[in-house]
Amino acid sequence: MTTTPIERQDLVRMIACEDPDERKKLYDSAYDIKLNQVGKLVYFRGIIEFSNICTKNCYYCGIRRENTAFNRFSMTKDEILECAQLAHEYHYGSIVLQAGERNDPDFVDFVTDVVHRIKLISNNDLGITLSLGEQTQETYRRWFEAGAHRYLIRIETSNQNLYRSLHPEDHDFDRRLACINILRGIGYQVGTGVMIGLPGQTVEDLADDILFFRNLDVDMIGMGPYIVHHDTPMAVEATDFNPARQLRLGLNMIAATRIALKDVNIAATTALQALDPRGRELGLKAGANIIMPNITHTRYRSSYQLYENKPCLDENAGLCRACLSHRITGIGEEIGYGKWGDSPHFHKRNQSNK
Ligand code: 5AD
Ligand code: SF4
Ligand code: FES
Repeated sequence: MTTTPIERQDLVRMIACEDPDERKKLYDSAYDIKLNQVGKLVYFRGIIEFSNICTKNCYYCGIRRENTAFNRFSMTKDEILECAQLAHEYHYGSIVLQAGERNDPDFVDFVTDVVHRIKLISNNDLGITLSLGEQTQETYRRWFEAGAHRYLIRIETSNQNLYRSLHPEDHDFDRRLACINILRGIGYQVGTGVMIGLPGQTVEDLADDILFFRNLDVDMIGMGPYIVHHDTPMAVEATDFNPARQLRLGLNMIAATRIALKDVNIAATTALQALDPRGRELGLKAGANIIMPNITHTRYRSSYQLYENKPCLDENAGLCRACLSHRITGIGEEIGYGKWGDSPHFHKRNQSNK
């Protein structure tokens, strides 16, 4: 195994790789690194997408504020707790609470209370990851004190010009980046990620995204292919959308990130499965080690579509559990039931800070 640091041109080569034999070699070497660095267990994070109300207006996202073509919902506390209870019964080690972005005091209080109650009803067993966008330091701190210990906030792209083209004027790259550093300072395990195959994005941009992850020293990566949503301004630009290319780029990015970052947790995200029924398994084979089964009540799933062709809209949590366990054991991997499955990187980072 090579010990020379991975350079930008190595990453570009991996991300651009199209030849099927070369890709197989790339995924196999990423898989070996995964086995050595994080092991063969796949960890489940049951995801509860508890509200599609969003104050932001990202040009690519189906639940952006100005899209009025669907109904907005917010699950009640009791409904969220029911889902969390189910995750606990299923021995999922952790859950993710995700929603559109809101910063109003009612929302902040709501989340604080929900986090607190989930820790109580699960005897502190369930790890809680939040994915609720940009917030103040004070809010992040309150949610951490209530019991959340991981936070996901994607930078979306590390190319600031591209970032500006994906978002309205009032969205700010530097503010988002500052959030990542604040979260880490508070003590969260921090995850970030990007969308892959955006209109106007080059393989060099994607290589820079991986270098950005490495420089930021993050613990978790959640990234997935960009998928068109027709009720968004970006659909107009994405006229040459090619699902096979998006899948290939998504898998190449997972492999290249595993090879460059080694001991972080990397999710095989649902967007991969929107492109190919076996997308998430392919992600695991290319170096990912985390899966996020949907545990949101079925009645809300169709109203939470950030992109089109999202899988599991008609299934319930039990069906997704059975389906995923079948898929994962089918490729010879094991599920780490009942474990938090923190990234080894987080613990190493903390030891070296002590
Ligand atoms: N395609 C793929 N991913 C998307 N996201 C939002 N819209 C899309 C889309 N059209 C991702 C963003 C966001 C995460 C919650 O969902 O990266 O951070
Ligand atoms: Fe809101 Fe997130 Fe969608 Fe942007 S990507 S519109 S912040 S839900
Ligand atoms: Fe939901 Fe397969 S994971 S149906």
